[in-house]
Amino acid sequence: MSAPTDTETEEVAADPRRAAPGIAAAAPAMPVRFPPGVAGKRRKPWLARRRALRGTVTAMIDLASAHLPEVVDLWVESWRRTLPHIDFDARRGWLVDHLEEARAKGAVVRLAVVGTGEIAGFVLIDPASGYLDQIAVHPEFWGGGVAEVLLDEARRWSPQRIVLDVNADNPRAVAFYVRQGFGEIGRGVNPRSGLATLKLEWRAGETSGT
Ligand SMILES: CC(C)(COP(=O)(O)OP(=O)(O)OC[C@H]1O[C@@H](n2cnc3c(N)ncnc32)[C@H](O)[C@@H]1OP(=O)(O)O)[C@@H](O)C(=O)NCCC(=O)NCCS
Repeated sequence: MSAPTDTETEEVAADPRRAAPGIAAAAPAMPVRFPPGVAGKRRKPWLARRRALRGTVTAMIDLASAHLPEVVDLWVESWRRTLPHIDFDARRGWLVDHLEEARAKGAVVRLAVVGTGEIAGFVLIDPASGYLDQIAVHPEFWGGGVAEVLLDEARRWSPQRIVLDVNADNPRAVAFYVRQGFGEIGRGVNPRSGLATLKLEWRAGETSGT
């Protein structure tokens, strides 16, 4: 064995954890480690409870003016995620006016409320024509079944037929409608955005897809 260099000797002297000859060195304290995710769950059990509450639609209610800020926020968030190149923040005022005008003409706006009291999504449908004008789910709730609950609600108001226009370049929505039994009955162009659209229809008792 070679003799320690000057540098090694200095390090031994400077390290207080090194024991003197004949005395056992104290083991350094090891940090307690839980498997990933376990530590947070142990310390924050309310997070798991909140997740469970958010996973269930507990009420379908009519739009009231007190709901408008939350509804407009979720509409902006859902569309921002869907078509990021369009400024949906700039359309907040348009949505508020549009919802009011549609309701004045007999359409209904129904909100899906989850167990935490949050509004997860909404649907705007005209029972007279069966035209589904708006359906939006906050992205935090996408894939959780809220859209299907909203569509079931729309079917309750228009049990024989529902028709709608969807941007052709909105694969998530198109996949959702096809899964729900909608079929293509025409094509067009969105007058506001200039984007290509598909006209889709659902009829009671039919199970067609696009
Ligand atoms: C449309 C919307 C209401 C659907 O709600 P959702 O919770 O996302 O719907 P779901 O997750 O139940 O269904 C979406 C389907 O699209 C599929 N999908 C997701 N991304 C996709 C993509 N890029 N291409 C094809 N399919 C896709 C999903 O896998 C899912 O199908 P699956 O359940 O068979 O696996 C919601 O996405 C939304 O609010 N979008 C913004 C507003 C909008 O586009 N409204 C409709 C205008 S007509």
